[in-house]
Amino acid sequence: MKHWAIVLLLLFVYGCKDSTFKNNTSVINEEIILPDTTLIPNDEFGKAVAYGRQLLLNTAYYIGPEGINGKYLGNKMNCTNCHQQAGTKPFSFNLMKSHERYPQYRARENTVITLAQRVNNCVQRPHNGKPLPLDSKEMIAILSYLKWINSFVVKVDSFVGSKNLSIKFPAVAASPERGAQLYTIHCQRCHGADGEGIYTADSSGYTYPPLWGKLAYQPGSSMHRVIMQAKWIKANMPHDLATWQKPVLTDTEALDIAAFVNNDDIHQRNQPQTFDYTNPKTKAIDYGKGPYVDTFSEVQHKYGPYQPIIDYWISKGLKPSY
Ligand code: HEC
Ligand code: HEC
Repeated sequence: MKHWAIVLLLLFVYGCKDSTFKNNTSVINEEIILPDTTLIPNDEFGKAVAYGRQLLLNTAYYIGPEGINGKYLGNKMNCTNCHQQAGTKPFSFNLMKSHERYPQYRARENTVITLAQRVNNCVQRPHNGKPLPLDSKEMIAILSYLKWINSFVVKVDSFVGSKNLSIKFPAVAASPERGAQLYTIHCQRCHGADGEGIYTADSSGYTYPPLWGKLAYQPGSSMHRVIMQAKWIKANMPHDLATWQKPVLTDTEALDIAAFVNNDDIHQRNQPQTFDYTNPKTKAIDYGKGPYVDTFSEVQHKYGPYQPIIDYWISKGLKPSY
């Protein structure tokens, strides 16, 4: 065969791989799924789904400190403040796969937990609340809603935004000082100079939720982890400008701001009664509370540089999570 023919053949083979094979899989893998709420069934189950959706959107109104259907939460944040669009927005702690992912082993509790227990973890940590009874109308509604949004997920490994955006780690530690300046530029106009947020007109919830203080999430919440928060704000904040396709903040800026927001020496928060992760081998590397399986300090775990910690874990045959 002449040289040019071989080249053409190779081009053809690779061309096929690229355009047909790869594109086909990516079409399935990269679907964006937004459940159509007009399809909520018109029956008893559908009523539970619809109430569950309302609970995610207006959590404080129903079950907040002055909730009309029960007083469970310790603050007036709504689930949707973090799990945006009632858990369906890509790269915003998306909840569409949750129903099929539980019961699941959780590193924090070092045991297998159900989805209902996982929901209560968020009621207790970011919302500083007391757990919803497992047989309450509210818990059943939230679980029904999570089951319903899961029914839109094609059974593939992943869809766009089911996980968080990833972050590249700089060689230096995240800096609360640089973060403070960036906060003034990018965040303060909505979340306030003191991170206090702004209530809605009837104070039943927030137009701009708080980022620290007694009414914000507590340090036991995963939002308090610097890497975890940086991935989220990169895709979602500033609220009116950033999209996951076009973030406003660089990775380093997102980490610096998360370091500032989550620095408890600068900002007060409600302290949890217990810090969990009883098994240090499964502790997220950006969890700022020891003991650890390595000798890196709490400060380095919280603010980085993270790469040396990750490299150390891998060299010991451990699996770092972050
Ligand atoms: C301050 C932010 C915040 C608020 C408010 C919040 N959560 Fe979460 N939630 C998180 C974070 C962070 C995670 C962990 C995400 C991860 O591991 O990728 C999480 C995880 C979850 C999960 C587990 C998802 C999975 O598939 O493993 C569920 C379910 C959940 N939240 C439900 C709720 C519900 C219901 C509410 C309202 C009652 C709520 N959350 C309020 C931040 C929040
Ligand atoms: C234009 C107003 C606006 C700006 C600017 C903005 N946010 Fe937000 N932020 C919001 C709104 C609104 C929500 C609630 C999202 C929802 O309910 O969909 C939110 C939610 C959040 C949350 C999760 C809920 C909570 O209170 O813990 C965090 C964290 C956050 N923002 C951080 C930031 C950071 C960091 C910046 C700056 C980089 C920023 N935001 C800039 C409006 C804004």
